[in-house]
Amino acid sequence: MPELEAILLVGGQGTRLRPLTLGTPKPLLPTAGVPFLAHQLAQARAAGVRRIVFATSYRAEMFREAFGDGSRFGLTLEYMTEETPLGTGGAIRNAAEALTCGPDAPVVVLNGDILSGHDIADQVAWHVGRGAAVTLHLTEVDDPSRFGCVPTDDEGRVTAFLEKTPNPVTNRINAGCYVFTRSVIDSIPEGEVVSVERETFPGLIEAGALVLGYADASYWLDVGTPAAFVKGSRDLVLGRLASPALPGPAGDLLALPGAVISPEAKVAEGATVGARAVVEAGAKVTGSVLGDDCVIEAGAIVADSVVGTGARVASGAVLRDAVIGDGAVIGPGNELLAGSRVWPGVVLPECAVRFSSDV
Ligand code: GDD
Ligand code: MG
Repeated sequence: MPELEAILLVGGQGTRLRPLTLGTPKPLLPTAGVPFLAHQLAQARAAGVRRIVFATSYRAEMFREAFGDGSRFGLTLEYMTEETPLGTGGAIRNAAEALTCGPDAPVVVLNGDILSGHDIADQVAWHVGRGAAVTLHLTEVDDPSRFGCVPTDDEGRVTAFLEKTPNPVTNRINAGCYVFTRSVIDSIPEGEVVSVERETFPGLIEAGALVLGYADASYWLDVGTPAAFVKGSRDLVLGRLASPALPGPAGDLLALPGAVISPEAKVAEGATVGARAVVEAGAKVTGSVLGDDCVIEAGAIVADSVVGTGARVASGAVLRDAVIGDGAVIGPGNELLAGSRVWPGVVLPECAVRFSSDV
């Protein structure tokens, strides 16, 4: 059996995760102690993938800096960059130039912002066994209108692909992991902006090609929003999704090297404390991602939030579902709740932002 190859789509801008993604692409954000993609790379490797082509665009050079030739991960990594983003289909076509496999070989394609516990090797086996053109991993969500809605027939054959439709016909959605037969990728027009979701998949179905669904109910999450990003990190730390890339045993918290956590602080519910970060006595940090070198002062409360590298949260401040950019300072007594975002380097003076429900 020749080496299994994959393409990783990482060219998106990750706008919904600003300000986190102002300086770092979404797939490189520290998640449970390592760049997000480290979890996807480790899982792909465990499924038998040995060579991965990164389809990059936004801040392309940062991916090579982070992962190099891949030898640390037991993988061979290649990088293909689009001058201007070519969309998901154009990116796959462009990246395929760096594949080595023949026209009949299966190629795994992964969205670069997904945590999934499904069995990629079984999806590949299913694809090969049925001789499909493309096999899509499918999962069920409560709100399918934000995703690609994918109805199938009794044999698992995909009957339509409805990207972000306001009227989804099923809760089953495209989970962002495909197996393509290589020749199908080669049939995508070269050098053009193409969406697999809006053009390639509907076109294949229309033409009568065998597009299969591989449905399962394992752990699945798109980390495209701050709340989902925090949840993903927390679930990895807690071991709700096993990851070979987790830098330590799964448990209530993950403390990176040099982190200093007061014995009188509470850090729990899957929180990560970055390298050399400090959590002082009486502070309470739950389910959050604390960046390297940040400081949570005595008595501050940080719940389900992201605190950037080198940021400081002063005593008595309260953060819930908030995102604090790198180097920002949250002065004493501020309350930043649901969806608050503070841009890097901003200094909030004492009690500048308070929350009141009776307005
Ligand atoms: N190289 C490259 N070039 N990558 C791109 C481009 C591009 O022009 N556009 C998007 N990507 C990458 C993103 O970085 C991401 O990893 C992936 O393609 C999907 O793009 P998103 O922007 O995250 O799409 P989405 O989350 O709204 O929807 C997609 O994922 C859903 C599952 O999470 C679709 O595939 C939906 O059908 C699917 O349900
Ligand atoms: Mg996404």
